[in-house]
Amino acid sequence: MKLHCLFLAVVSTGTAFASAYSTAGIEALVRRRLPDHCNDITFSLTVPPSYSSSVNKSAFASHNDSYAVSNGGAGKIHISGTSPSALATGLRYYLKEFANVDIHWFLGSRLNLAPKHLPAVNSTLKGASIVPYRYHFNTVTFSYTSAFWSWTDWEEQLDWMSLHGINLPLAWVGYEKILTDVFLEAGFTHADLASFLSGPAFQAWNRFGNIQGSWGGDLPKAWIEGQFELQKKIIARMVELGMTPVLPCFTGFVPSRIGEIYPNASFVTGSQWNGFPAQYTDVKFLEPFDPLFTTLQKSFIEKQQQAYGQVSSLYTLDQYNENNPYSGDTDYLRNVTANTMKSLKAADPEATWMLQGWLFYSSQSFWTNERVEAYLGGVSNEDMLIIDLFSESQPQWQRTNNYYGKPWIWCELHDYGSNMGLYGQVENVTINPIDALNNKSTTMVGMGLTMEGQEGNEIMYDILLDQAWSETSLNSEIYFHDWVTTRYYSSKMKLPSSIYKAWNILRQTVYNNTQLSQSTGVTKSIFELSPNTTGLLNRTGHHATVIIYDPVALVSAWQDFYSASSQSPQLWKNKPYVFDLTDMTRQVLANAFVPLYTSFVTAANKSDNATYSIDTARRTGSEMLALLADLDAVLVASGEAAFTLGPWIEAARAWAGNDTKSADFYEYNLRNQVTLWGPTGQISDYSSRQWGGLVKDYYVPRWKLFIEYTLRGDTTPNGANSELAKALLTFEESWQMKKWESEKRKEVKGDVEKTIKSVAAKWGYVFGN
Ligand SMILES: *[C@@H]1O[C@H](CO)[C@@H](O)[C@H](O)[C@H]1NC(C)=O
Ligand SMILES: *[C@@H]1O[C@H](CO)[C@@H](O)[C@H](O)[C@H]1NC(C)=O
Ligand SMILES: *[C@@H]1O[C@H](CO)[C@@H](O)[C@H](O)[C@H]1NC(C)=O
Ligand SMILES: *[C@@H]1O[C@H](CO)[C@@H](O)[C@H](O)[C@H]1NC(C)=O
Ligand SMILES: *[C@@H]1O[C@H](CO)[C@@H](O)[C@H](O)[C@H]1NC(C)=O
Ligand SMILES: *[C@@H]1O[C@H](CO)[C@@H](O)[C@H](O)[C@H]1NC(C)=O
Ligand SMILES: *[C@@H]1O[C@H](CO)[C@@H](O)[C@H](O)[C@H]1NC(C)=O
Ligand SMILES: *[C@@H]1O[C@H](CO)[C@@H](O)[C@H](O)[C@H]1NC(C)=O
Ligand SMILES: *[C@@H]1O[C@H](CO)[C@@H](O)[C@H](O)[C@H]1NC(C)=O
Ligand SMILES: *[C@@H]1O[C@H](CO)[C@@H](O)[C@H](O)[C@H]1NC(C)=O
Ligand SMILES: *[C@@H]1O[C@H](CO)[C@@H](O)[C@H](O)[C@H]1NC(C)=O
Ligand SMILES: *[C@@H]1O[C@H](CO)[C@@H](O)[C@H](O)[C@H]1NC(C)=O
Repeated sequence: MKLHCLFLAVVSTGTAFASAYSTAGIEALVRRRLPDHCNDITFSLTVPPSYSSSVNKSAFASHNDSYAVSNGGAGKIHISGTSPSALATGLRYYLKEFANVDIHWFLGSRLNLAPKHLPAVNSTLKGASIVPYRYHFNTVTFSYTSAFWSWTDWEEQLDWMSLHGINLPLAWVGYEKILTDVFLEAGFTHADLASFLSGPAFQAWNRFGNIQGSWGGDLPKAWIEGQFELQKKIIARMVELGMTPVLPCFTGFVPSRIGEIYPNASFVTGSQWNGFPAQYTDVKFLEPFDPLFTTLQKSFIEKQQQAYGQVSSLYTLDQYNENNPYSGDTDYLRNVTANTMKSLKAADPEATWMLQGWLFYSSQSFWTNERVEAYLGGVSNEDMLIIDLFSESQPQWQRTNNYYGKPWIWCELHDYGSNMGLYGQVENVTINPIDALNNKSTTMVGMGLTMEGQEGNEIMYDILLDQAWSETSLNSEIYFHDWVTTRYYSSKMKLPSSIYKAWNILRQTVYNNTQLSQSTGVTKSIFELSPNTTGLLNRTGHHATVIIYDPVALVSAWQDFYSASSQSPQLWKNKPYVFDLTDMTRQVLANAFVPLYTSFVTAANKSDNATYSIDTARRTGSEMLALLADLDAVLVASGEAAFTLGPWIEAARAWAGNDTKSADFYEYNLRNQVTLWGPTGQISDYSSRQWGGLVKDYYVPRWKLFIEYTLRGDTTPNGANSELAKALLTFEESWQMKKWESEKRKEVKGDVEKTIKSVAAKWGYVFGN
């Protein structure tokens, strides 16, 4: 950082206002990301906040944000706005439009590429949000994406969120510290907690009451403490950037010895989740009408306020996520919410309850309208905020008549399990939130992102957050064009037109799914699934394997994109270009696996004399393995953490310092999450990833077994092959226990240009063009 940037920011608001309503946070962001320009951009808050802090939710929810960017004189840019979030949004808007730079997932901030002399604006640029809240995160993002993040990762994430206008983030990190203190004080023992808390990669579902305990080892105390320290920084930064964190609270899930410690407590045993053995599920739930519930709630919120300050009165609380109430009686359901709310109010009179609306979709048969109305009816409208979690595919706000009057947020989910596949519903996310907002009876108050994992497809997330600042549906053609200009910006060259052409094809194909009966989220590639002669192709729903666009269209976009590098070879030095070329190549190769697999299965089918051919089967079998090996080579060569297993394992292990036992446990957690997901494969492959290292190490051996057993054995029409199934599980379980360090593996960034060129030359024939 340059010396002249070390001056202290002048806080432009009076001391009466909490730091959340000062310009200090955005000024610090400029110092972090634009160190050459910290004297060139000035900020002011236009409307003195009529409230004393972000705690004042009635004020917070009642107004849209707006900003204005103008020339500040002496070559400076001046940004004024109604909140720190408005200032950050104005800043990003200016930098995108006038300097062609932005901040991105994985690639990080490219804001430092802004020209030395910031361009003046022609006339004052004005922008206004169309909703008061811009929301970010799904409870499970904290496990699929950020479980092992460091503070550096978080700082980048929070700057990304701030610049994208997020003012309402979920903040789950460190929950276990407060919860542990509450339970110990309440008489539970460390042993009770050990059998209750889940491993670092599975905490989200423990927080939801789906699972309890940890397989492969207990959650170390150092993890709990380390996450707590991290959360202190996260919360402080969120507040500094003008965000209102949505904080955890006591949900009701308790260690299983509740009945022994509190013989009079009213509790019920929750349902079994996804076939997990009883030891790891059937979590006990303390009834909210039991006075103990309020006692624990007060203890939790008091401890949390002591730890982070009184920074927010918004609480995330989900009691029935994929876990139905034991009774569907409407009085009971109303009683649960009424008493839960009472406990929150007893602990924090300003409390607002934020509820993820996922349950109303995932357990629709239980959650009849009558029950939803009763359940929500236990709480007054101003005390609750609903996250309509999957608005682009399975919105629930219409059938629940705007959640019976509760305010709600339109959210794009898009990705399950951090799966990787090019995919989008560009029409839906630009049209439907606007339609919803224009609905006469709407109680919609926000827009946001609820992806299970932050994977690729960043344009689909950017566009939704930018849509939150446009009253009319964004024109995707213009949006994609501008996005491309900024993404690959380099002062040294003009982008070849074939790059724009490629993205325009993607826009109309992979990013334009309108067939929601086929696919509702990021597609999976069949090579990530447990090999089988049947059942892999054309799956529909939310891990669809059906390819909803013509694969030839993707190949043609890929060719256009790739050919740009012949025209401008310096693109091989352009990080975003190489990143996206890797991603497109990944998808092209993944799609090319399908016809090889189909040929193999057909040729290996001994019961069909017309197509059976052992020679063809052998050849296509080895081609399948070779294709995956080449895919692995491309991913590894990219040197990108987004595309390789190694950096994820290293990040997990790093949390243990030199405590090898814990490091091994964290590594096991990570490996288990992305493969078997559960001690013995309870939801195997749910969170599969197309990572270099994982493809070669996990998917290739599975397919190799499949090919060998299929060639050897008899074909059964339903794909059953108990010998193969056994061999697969043995391999999968042994893979969990592998240790990165003892293997002395390192994924070394390779010559990505050479690798992609040779792979393209080799497989061109199978791409289907
Ligand atoms: C909260 O905001 C409302 C609406 O702007 C205002 O009337 C009220 O005085 C504020 N309360 C506090 C405690 O600042
Ligand atoms: C600024 O104004 C000039 C002249 O009206 C126009 O050509 C140019 O495109 C404008 N630049 C921007 C970034 O709006
Ligand atoms: C925010 O702006 C949108 C679009 O102009 C409008 O429909 C909505 O009522 C505004 N909300 C508030 C709280 O002012
Ligand atoms: C449990 O309830 C019984 C009967 O009401 C009462 O006598 C006893 O003191 C209670 N025990 C505890 C631990 O609260
Ligand atoms: C909730 O149910 C409990 C137990 O049946 C009962 O004691 C209590 O009065 C009920 N509370 C409300 C608000 O209905
Ligand atoms: C408008 O909202 C109501 C619920 O309040 C819903 O029934 C209706 O379908 C919505 N209209 C549209 C076009 O989505
Ligand atoms: C978006 O998805 C919803 C829910 O499936 C559907 O009703 C709506 O028609 C879709 N809109 C567009 C523009 O595709
Ligand atoms: C997306 O597909 C729909 C249905 O085929 C079509 O009406 C729409 O124009 C397409 N949008 C884009 C951006 O290609
Ligand atoms: C999958 O869908 C494709 C395209 O519609 C079709 O050609 C193929 O036969 C289907 N395969 C299976 C196994 O359903
Ligand atoms: C396949 O060929 C074998 C030997 O030529 C014959 O015995 C068998 O009946 C044929 N099976 C079918 C399904 O045609
Ligand atoms: C790690 O090892 C170093 C040197 O061996 C030691 O000084 C340090 O205390 C250890 N740290 C932890 C957390 O065990
Ligand atoms: C293949 O899938 C079928 C249908 O789900 C299943 O019955 C069979 O056991 C699977 N085969 C293997 C080897 O896992």
